[in-house]
Amino acid sequence: MPKSYENYVNGRWTGPKSDSLFQRENPATGEIIGSFPDSGAQDVADAVTAAVGAFESWRLTPAPRRAEILFRAAELMLARKEELARDVTVEMGKVLKEARGDVQEAIDMTYYAAGEGRRMAGQTLPAELPNKFAMTVRQPHGIVAAITPWNFPTAIPCWKLMPALITGNTAVFKPSPLSPLSASNLVRILEEAGLPPGVVNLVFGGDQTGAALVEDPRVSMVSFTGSLEVGREIAAHCGRNSKRVHLELGGKNAIIVLDDADVDLAIEGAVWSAFGTSGQRCTAASRMIVHEAVAEPFTDQLVARAGALRLGDGLEIATDVGPVVSSDSIAKIQSYMEIGREEGAAIACGGSRAAGNGLDCGYFFQPTVFTDVKPAMRIAQEEIFGPVTDVITCSDLDQAVAINNDVPYGLVAAIYTRDISKAFSALERIHTGMVYINAGTIGAEVHLPFGGTRATGNGHREAGQAALDSYSEWKSVYVDYSGRLQKAQIDR
Ligand code: UN1
Repeated sequence: MPKSYENYVNGRWTGPKSDSLFQRENPATGEIIGSFPDSGAQDVADAVTAAVGAFESWRLTPAPRRAEILFRAAELMLARKEELARDVTVEMGKVLKEARGDVQEAIDMTYYAAGEGRRMAGQTLPAELPNKFAMTVRQPHGIVAAITPWNFPTAIPCWKLMPALITGNTAVFKPSPLSPLSASNLVRILEEAGLPPGVVNLVFGGDQTGAALVEDPRVSMVSFTGSLEVGREIAAHCGRNSKRVHLELGGKNAIIVLDDADVDLAIEGAVWSAFGTSGQRCTAASRMIVHEAVAEPFTDQLVARAGALRLGDGLEIATDVGPVVSSDSIAKIQSYMEIGREEGAAIACGGSRAAGNGLDCGYFFQPTVFTDVKPAMRIAQEEIFGPVTDVITCSDLDQAVAINNDVPYGLVAAIYTRDISKAFSALERIHTGMVYINAGTIGAEVHLPFGGTRATGNGHREAGQAALDSYSEWKSVYVDYSGRLQKAQIDR
């Protein structure tokens, strides 16, 4: 019998009132790792009720006290880093080394947010009238719905929950049904760290559970990372209902390689950014925009390196690339092979599901490089979310920047060049939320804003100081100690 997991509502682990469960399998082996509640409308409503009940007292708990709980949670994560990482690998497939990075990013974010408990600065400003004091303070939104994806099952929940908690919100957390185990692990740690009942509540399930949560009128803010399609629905609902919303919806990120680049260095960045996490990062590099003068050596090396990557179970030390997350994911990636071929692109390596060598029970896709790609092709415009990248050639920096910017998304871009003027010119003109010079597209750090332009998001950011702006809003405070009626703009 697979182990069975429960919702966490108002400080108690409880089975779902929906009486319905789903199972999650290890994408490398097909083994069932556990059964989880398929939470229904009543389960969601109970979780929101708990968050509402806990809000007032959490909001009024001094932020440095809230921070102490977060610090304890970070310490517990650090102590259990290895087991948390193994569970990440087992439930979503990324190789152990990267799973440790995922957990480390969660730890970093938790420490960072906890540190804000003793900062969270507002402004003091001069008032235009005498004997009057002006300042700004942050205030929480209320109940935050944190709806998270499976590709960073510990880091992304911490990106959302930790800034939400430190600014005084309470939360209902719904992880992707493809990564419920890490979510359960994280909430257990928050419980052990002493988080009061109701401050974070956990429900599991898919789109219906998510919709019930988003639509609960008591939810004040939705923070969602996932598909463009679902993000737009959430944004429309939040717009109609005056809810705050933070969206993080994907990318079609490029690495630009100019003719003066260190091509060997660019290859290192390209292989890591295209095939790390089996290409299942929002930040993955799914386009290589390469100057025609270096296109041939670059492509040859990229294809050779992609073909040499060892596929396998992420728990095995020799594995470079783990499985993709699910059968749906395999089907989607496979469909883009057909789309690319029909559009006239060539598959220089990979191109199909991997089989044999113990891979038959899992969802393995061969690292794939498309060549002869034109910037307007669907494979160069749409997010595939797998170990697939395109090589597009360009003739100069201007064209490279134009190709980079001419996609619906704007999360991250990278450029390899030794020419400092070109590097600065590119970083000024590239229209993305993050830019790397002489490094690949992945590897964002938690104390800088994370997010993107255009369809990648809605202007808000995760991580860094910017996250505080997403999870709180400003209150401007005027203290008049003149003892008389003073009129701004009138008395002068
Ligand atoms: C994501 O893919 O959604 O920069 C997050 C990176 C990681 C975070 C990625 N630090 O790739």
